[in-house]
Amino acid sequence: MSCRIAGVRLPTPLVLASGVWGTSPTLLERAARTGAGAVAAKTCTLAPRRGHRNPTAIDWGHGLINAMGLPNPGAAEEVELLRDAARRLAALGVPLIASIAADTVEDFGRAAAIVSEADPALIEVNISCPNVESSHGEMFASSAEAAAAVTRQVKSSTPIPCLVKLSPNVADIAAIARAVAAAGADGITAINTMPGMLVDAESGAPVLANGTGGISGAALKPIALRCVHEISGAVELPIIGTGGVITGTDAVEMLSAGAACVGIGSAIVFRGENAFSSILEELKVWLAEHGYRCLEDIRGRTHRGAGAAVVVTNPPPVPGWEKTRA
Ligand code: SIN
Repeated sequence: MSCRIAGVRLPTPLVLASGVWGTSPTLLERAARTGAGAVAAKTCTLAPRRGHRNPTAIDWGHGLINAMGLPNPGAAEEVELLRDAARRLAALGVPLIASIAADTVEDFGRAAAIVSEADPALIEVNISCPNVESSHGEMFASSAEAAAAVTRQVKSSTPIPCLVKLSPNVADIAAIARAVAAAGADGITAINTMPGMLVDAESGAPVLANGTGGISGAALKPIALRCVHEISGAVELPIIGTGGVITGTDAVEMLSAGAACVGIGSAIVFRGENAFSSILEELKVWLAEHGYRCLEDIRGRTHRGAGAAVVVTNPPPVPGWEKTRA
């Protein structure tokens, strides 16, 4: 079950996606103890951010929508949290991923240098948060040039390998992936949430205080699979395939689309704190039942041509899951 991403060994292919269990070292440790092969901290910025007003996150029936607004204590305090998390994770052999965001190319470099003081195994460069205004005017993930400029700046600011987190909300994600690869990225996280909106029928008002938010969970999976398939066809970089993975079968699909490992986020909300152990067990059982010996056997199968026709009957993502939302 082990795999490698940017030279870093992960004991399992499941990665705690940034943001879900925040910057709490104890929750990062819990993810590692229950089956995560790497854990990403909540994105931090140079200065602390309060984030948006409530409501900030809602289960809308087919996934989640959130507009947290990158609440975080700022990079200086984040370093202490990362150090604590790194100490806890070292004993478990689970690498820590720091996550950074910034308003300018230069500040991405500064944030990367600061979090590097905690010596995380990897730094995720979040250029794709849909919930914050940037002085850049748009997400850095929106253009190949801007994405490449951030990547170059981060690479020149830290020796720690960096993963660039891309947005699905672009015309050609493969072109963005090629640009960050050429700029020196060591890997890609694909994808961040997809911008969306909930409207309250009675009042006609947006439900989230921020108006719009990012969609994750089951509704995001087909978009994430398409993006991972396109990126893995365009670049050689390892990809953390993230978006709508709720079950072991979803993880199989993500690896088949070309992911090196699989990000887990909203599944924690839908499956509880044992999401990692459940998904890992389901993945192992699926591989054994289908006669595969290792993850490499299924990685990138979408690029090997279509298989036999399959009738999709749209089962609930987790047996019994639909009963919890009556
Ligand atoms: C948020 O804090 O609003 C979400 C973070 C992200 O999507 O990058």
